[in-house]
Amino acid sequence: MATHPGGLTSTEAPAVRVRDLHRSFNRSGGVLEGLDLDVAPGEFVAVLGRSGTGKSTLLRALAGLDRDVDGYGEIEVPVAVSVVFQDSRLLPWKRLLDNVTFGLRAPDADERGRRALAEVGLAGRERAWPYELSGGEAQRASLARSLVREPQLLLADEPFGALDALTRIKMHELLRRLCEVHRPAVLLVTHDVDEAIVLADRIVVLDGGTVQTDVRVELTQRSPVAPGFGELRDFLLGRLGVQEHLGADFIAPGRRRATSATPS
Ligand SMILES: Nc1ncnc2c1ncn2[C@@H]1O[C@H](COP(=O)(O)OP(=O)(O)OP(=O)(O)O)[C@@H](O)[C@H]1O
Ligand SMILES: [Mg+2]
Repeated sequence: MATHPGGLTSTEAPAVRVRDLHRSFNRSGGVLEGLDLDVAPGEFVAVLGRSGTGKSTLLRALAGLDRDVDGYGEIEVPVAVSVVFQDSRLLPWKRLLDNVTFGLRAPDADERGRRALAEVGLAGRERAWPYELSGGEAQRASLARSLVREPQLLLADEPFGALDALTRIKMHELLRRLCEVHRPAVLLVTHDVDEAIVLADRIVVLDGGTVQTDVRVELTQRSPVAPGFGELRDFLLGRLGVQEHLGADFIAPGRRRATSATPS
């Protein structure tokens, strides 16, 4: 297993602390079976894993959206948590600004909503109805709705999964920029290995109900043609079982292969 010591300094309290998390759905074997995870404040962690490995189950647990599910374990998350899903989940009967500020109890809610819409490039669309938006615009509105709450933790479950490749790249740029400004801790579930490498400080791979791989992304450039990008992609694909042979021998960036004790 590729490991890393976590994104924390010794004095820093984590934004997310999960210990021995178990979740099951009344069938043989649990979905999460003793999962441990720390996420530092402001750290961007991408979560990869084969379909059905429990990524959404983990996010729902962190969001407190699984109270009726069997399981136990310790979960500590900040008070301010926002969730973004694959579909924008905008309320069709509310205009855009009202969607963004929905449930926000603040005297300056409208002003904050307008600012958030401007940040995601939707200034001037405050009175639009959700049906008038493209998929990418709807996801941008969904990001604005999350950020207007100034979350300390942003949970995103395949937020760009339904978007075309070009819109996805634009969304990556937008999300990176927004995270640099607002600095929430982020847990992003994705099936897209390149997306994980482009966006994340750290990538974890779920398998067998726990974190099987935990690797820090230490690339100077986040472009698929940058040195080290392809190597990391191959390693992660190996861990996902896509290219079995590549996973075994990869040395995560910043690590050294242990000298083998070959008899001379
Ligand atoms: N409400 C539920 N009732 C019963 N089983 C469930 C429920 N939710 C999830 N599961 C099961 O738990 C397992 C993990 O599901 P989960 O949605 O967390 O996977 P995932 O890693 O997000 O998969 P995907 O990549 O396909 O989205 C799956 O086998 C799924 O069938
Ligand atoms: Mg899922």
